[in-house]
Amino acid sequence: MKGNDKILITAEAVALMKSRNGNKLSKYFVTPRIEKLEAFVSKVLSKDLLSKVFERRLRLSFDLEEAIGKFKPRRIIDLGAGYSTFNLEYALAHPRCQIIEVDFPSVIYTKQEKLIQIRREAKIGKIPNLHLLPADIVQDSFPKNLKKYLSERDKTLIYSVGVNTYLNSAQNTAMLKNVLTILEQSRADSAYLSHDPTQTQVNETASIGGKVLRGVVSTLTGSKQHIHYSTEADLKRKLKNVGFGKINILKRRQDNTIYLVRNA
Ligand SMILES: C[S@@+](CC[C@H](N)C(=O)[O-])C[C@H]1O[C@@H](n2cnc3c(N)ncnc32)[C@H](O)[C@@H]1O
Repeated sequence: MKGNDKILITAEAVALMKSRNGNKLSKYFVTPRIEKLEAFVSKVLSKDLLSKVFERRLRLSFDLEEAIGKFKPRRIIDLGAGYSTFNLEYALAHPRCQIIEVDFPSVIYTKQEKLIQIRREAKIGKIPNLHLLPADIVQDSFPKNLKKYLSERDKTLIYSVGVNTYLNSAQNTAMLKNVLTILEQSRADSAYLSHDPTQTQVNETASIGGKVLRGVVSTLTGSKQHIHYSTEADLKRKLKNVGFGKINILKRRQDNTIYLVRNA
């Protein structure tokens, strides 16, 4: 099974939202093509709808970042890290935590170049605890690619933000199975942190503008938005079916359910 790397434009979109929200490092990842797209959608969509979409997406990132801080991991694996700069900031603040960012090669190579530029301009030395791994998280071979980072049985937090919804059902299950394999090779208190949008999120943007926006995104990414779980009971049942043991719902937002799961 192969992931779809047209999705990388969504990483640019998140960088743009974070940059508009004042994150200085995210500015490095804002491309002319995403600025053009922003100019286009601002012309055809209402300001209200766009700010709702931006607010919701930023709040999601902040929710996950807060949960990572509370978990206090010794190792972080970010699946579909995109152009998020959170891991860079976390790596600098927590030099004993090993962080592995995973994404498609095209994203990872661009990110490596931008990180060199950021370090040069911000006068930051080498960051030995931040690693960038080009890989497809839905491929069966993915856990093997990670092996060299898993030699110690450290308390590991695997997380993904804004990724699962771009995976179809089979890809989502394949990714979750890979997560289980990685957790089995980590310390017993390790976990996977993620979220899934609820149907409410889709309903909230059921206006014509919302449909236009979803149409633009699905044309550009070659993927529609997949809602994997309709209710919380459904979410728990499906995660249990894949093989996860403990499922902890951390936050119930109207638009997103944020959860932490362990393999046993
Ligand atoms: C919406 S972006 C989110 C980026 C980041 N997590 C954030 O919150 O800023 C989705 C990211 O998932 C990555 N992605 C999607 N499917 C993937 C796959 N099969 N393997 C690796 N990365 C994937 C995309 O390339 C993109 O960078």
